[in-house]
Amino acid sequence: MRRLEGRAEALSARYRSGRVGRAIGDRRDAMAYLAQWMPATYAQVYGAIAALGSLVEASWRPHTILDLGSGPGTALWAVAEHWDGPEKAVAVERLLPFTTLGAELASRSRHRWLRDTRWVEADLAETIFPESDLVLLAHSLAEIPGGRRDALLERAWRACRGVLVLVEPGTPAGFEVVRRGREELLAMGADQLAPCPHKGPCPMEGDVWCHFPQRVARPRFQREIKRAELGWEDAKYAYVAVSRGVGAGLPEARLIGVPRHGRGRIRLPLCTPEGIESVEITRRDKAALRRAKKLRWGAALELVEDRGDSKGQ
Ligand SMILES: C[S@@+](CC[C@H](N)C(=O)[O-])C[C@H]1O[C@@H](n2cnc3c(N)ncnc32)[C@H](O)[C@@H]1O
Repeated sequence: MRRLEGRAEALSARYRSGRVGRAIGDRRDAMAYLAQWMPATYAQVYGAIAALGSLVEASWRPHTILDLGSGPGTALWAVAEHWDGPEKAVAVERLLPFTTLGAELASRSRHRWLRDTRWVEADLAETIFPESDLVLLAHSLAEIPGGRRDALLERAWRACRGVLVLVEPGTPAGFEVVRRGREELLAMGADQLAPCPHKGPCPMEGDVWCHFPQRVARPRFQREIKRAELGWEDAKYAYVAVSRGVGAGLPEARLIGVPRHGRGRIRLPLCTPEGIESVEITRRDKAALRRAKKLRWGAALELVEDRGDSKGQ
């Protein structure tokens, strides 16, 4: 554990100052990634996939999965948690310590498709992507030099037969990668799925950026490695999911921050087709207030009544 702790610390320092590709040298580095980062990135992908909910056709299931820049296959585990019925997965990753460890981990899965994942140890730029129902880019697009991201997205989109999900850290920089990726995907004809309740330009500006929390438990080994006391963390992520013809409609609004509770009222920060709005629900509409109390940051919602004259405040 001590040695892993040391590796995790060194890895964090290198990771923060650059790209994972430069930080993973051998199996121990990959193990440190598993212990330090994988639980949070897993949670983030899980959150993005869970947000698709009723936004995709009820009968839609991904049978074939393509994980681009897969690391140890983090996103595949999130898929396994969410959908029954995948049959084939392909993971493209250029680092051998990750593909080796990823294959070992997957071999313990109860899901046959995950055990049988095809690990392609190669550069994304040199790989032919198989057509797939679900294409995942989890924390990998930002690792591609800026000038090559559009080309990668174009190839990823061409391979996508159903849903493409792009996830990055919930930082302003991560959000910018997602925002630009979304623009590119919509320009290629993709249909918006989540989180945006519209297909128009992103209205976020200034110090507002679109990101969401996903709670994840920190087991003891992780608390030790991270020198953290809390038994959980809220892993923040930015994401966009688009579809090729399997969308079931968009929500009317998305809750883009923590609801502010006051006496007999709640204020909701929302992204709507008209832009960013701050909507107040008061006890004048008890049913709406009851519903609003249950809403959590990230929820997709039908606009709650009683928007009153609070629009834009
Ligand atoms: C931050 S890690 C994320 C790994 C995994 N998707 C996850 O969420 O845990 C980014 C991964 O993308 C891989 N990657 C970056 N550029 C790549 C390229 N050109 N070809 C193949 N893999 C690449 C890196 O090696 C690294 O494993």
